Amino acid sequence: MTPALRQAAAAAGAEPAAPPAFDVERVRRDFPALDQTVHGKPLVYLDSAATALKPQAVIDAVTGVYSRDCANIHRAVHLLSQRATAGYERAREAVRRFVNAGSADEIIFTRGTTEGINLVAQSWGRANLREGDEVLITGLEHHSNIVPWQLVCGQTGAHLVVAPITDDGEVRLEDVKARLTDRTKIVAVAQVSNALGTVLPLRPIIDAAHDAGALVLVDGAQGAPHVGVDVQALGCDFYALSGHKLYGPTGAGALFGKRALLEEMPPYQGGGDMILSVTFEETLYAEVPHKFEAGTPNIAGVIGMGAAIEYLEALGVQAAEAHEAALLAYGTEVLEAIPGVRIVGKARDKVAVLSFVMDAAHPHDIGTIVDAEGVAIRTGHHCAQPVMERYCIAATARASLGLYNTREDIDALGRALTRVQEMFG
Ligand code: ALA
Repeated sequence: MTPALRQAAAAAGAEPAAPPAFDVERVRRDFPALDQTVHGKPLVYLDSAATALKPQAVIDAVTGVYSRDCANIHRAVHLLSQRATAGYERAREAVRRFVNAGSADEIIFTRGTTEGINLVAQSWGRANLREGDEVLITGLEHHSNIVPWQLVCGQTGAHLVVAPITDDGEVRLEDVKARLTDRTKIVAVAQVSNALGTVLPLRPIIDAAHDAGALVLVDGAQGAPHVGVDVQALGCDFYALSGHKLYGPTGAGALFGKRALLEEMPPYQGGGDMILSVTFEETLYAEVPHKFEAGTPNIAGVIGMGAAIEYLEALGVQAAEAHEAALLAYGTEVLEAIPGVRIVGKARDKVAVLSFVMDAAHPHDIGTIVDAEGVAIRTGHHCAQPVMERYCIAATARASLGLYNTREDIDALGRALTRVQEMFG
C-alpha cells in the first residue's frame, strides 16, 4: 500500500487489513521467462515498467484461444465463436472489477494506454475543444499523454498548459490549481510517472479540476500495476491502462469512461462491430462500448489480459504492493550507497521505479554492462523527454520492479553497478 493509501485509510479510522502472505519464490515459479540465463548469468529482470513478464496462466489463456476457441467474436452462432465471445466479455468484467467501474459498458478495449488517450483526444477532444480552450497536463507525462493532446490542440485551436514538477519529481496540487482557468476543458494526468515513479495526488487534482468545470483523464499505465485504481472513488472521467504492464499480453488495454460521456462522444474509428445498421445514406452506431470497438479486436490479447487480472486478484493486489514497496525502499538504500550513483526522482510518494545516473558512465554504457551481468534495465529518455529536460540530462538508467522481484535481484543490480563504477570510475 502506498503512503497515500495508508494515510487515507488512517484518516478514515480504518486499519488496513493485513495482506495475505506473499511468497515471492512461489510467485516466481509462475513466470517461465524467469527460468533462464542471459550471457551465462541467471536473468534479473528489472524492466517491468517497459513490459512485465507474463505468468503461465496468461500464456495458457492466450494459447487456449488459438488452440481451442479460435473464432471471431460477436459475429457467429457457432460454438467456437460463443466461447471466444464469452472469454472476451469475461475479460471486460474482469477489467470492470479491477478498476471498480459501475458497469462493464464503461470499459472499452483498446491496444493499450496510448490508444485509449488518443481515442479520448480525437473523439471527445475534437467534438468539445474550441479555439482558446486549454488542456492541462503535468511536466512528468509520458509522450503518450502529451502528443495526442498536441495533435488535437493543433486541430481545434486549443492550447496545452503544463503544471511543473519539483526538483524531487513531485507535482504540487497548488501548481495544478494555479493553472486551472475557466478555459481548462480537460486535465490529463499520469497516476504514476514511468520515468520517476512519482505517485500523483490524483484525488485532490480531480476534485480541483471538477470544481473548475474540467474533465479529468488519468493515464493509468504505470499506476494500475502498482497502486491499483477505483475509478468511482477517484471520480475521474476517463482512465486508460495497458494490459502488458499488468502481466498481460502486449497490444491489449482498456479505457474506462463515464457512461454519459461515452454516449455523447462520436466513434473514434468506423468499421465492423461498431454499428447498428448501415446504408449508403446513413449509419446508426451500436451502443457503448461497442461503438468504440471497430473491427476484429485483439481477442487473444484481451482474454489474456482478463487472465492476468484474475491472476493478480488471486495473488492479492495489496500484498504485491507491500512487497514492491519494501523492495523499492531496499533498492533506494543499495543505490544510494554506491559512490557516483544519483537517483533522479525522490518523491515522497513513489512506487516501483529507480531512475538514476552515474557520474562516470553514460546510461547506455550502464545498460550494456549490467546486461552482460544478466541484469535487464531500461536506459534512455523513457518516452518522457520533457522530464529529462527538466533535470538537464539526456537519459537515465531505470530499474523498475515487478511483483516477482527479490532483494537478491537488487543485490545483483548493486554488484553490476559497482562493476560499472570500477570500469569507468
Ligand atoms: N512506457 C514504457 C516505459 O516506461 C514503455 O518503459
